[in-house]
Amino acid sequence: MDTNAVREVAAAAIIAGGRLLLAQRVAPPELAGMWELPGGKIEPGETPAQGLRRELREELGVDTAVGDRIGVDVPLPKGMVLRAYLVSLRDGTPTALEHSAVRWVDAAELAAVDLVPNDRAWLAELTAVLRAG
Ligand code: CDP
Repeated sequence: MDTNAVREVAAAAIIAGGRLLLAQRVAPPELAGMWELPGGKIEPGETPAQGLRRELREELGVDTAVGDRIGVDVPLPKGMVLRAYLVSLRDGTPTALEHSAVRWVDAAELAAVDLVPNDRAWLAELTAVLRAG
């Protein structure tokens, strides 16, 4: 793998009607069954917004608009960094094409969900956005 060309993993905080979309991981075994903000690696030549829109088309079958960043940078192995973006749906219904399920959670449900460890770094900001909306 070309680790120099793959530096950012972008994750989407898709929020609609006061709820956040979560997707359930199928792999690796230690994360399978846990919930995450959908997204993936930005490819060389893509902006983060372009790459995240591509990942969301692939993973959820939706067209989206990528907005501002939210929360801290989360360091990943191999010099990569994980970043979250506020994202709105433009077209389509999120469907679990590469996950085992998707679900919408409000602030109270988010607090109780089994979120992947990296994404827990954004819990306070995500909760604040959900409570405001
Ligand atoms: O789909 P792609 O292979 O591009 O990316 P991925 O395997 O979904 O994510 C790349 C890395 O970021 C993995 O180590 C994931 O566990 C991590 N990740 C994360 O911690 N939180 C997310 N919301 C999305 C990805």
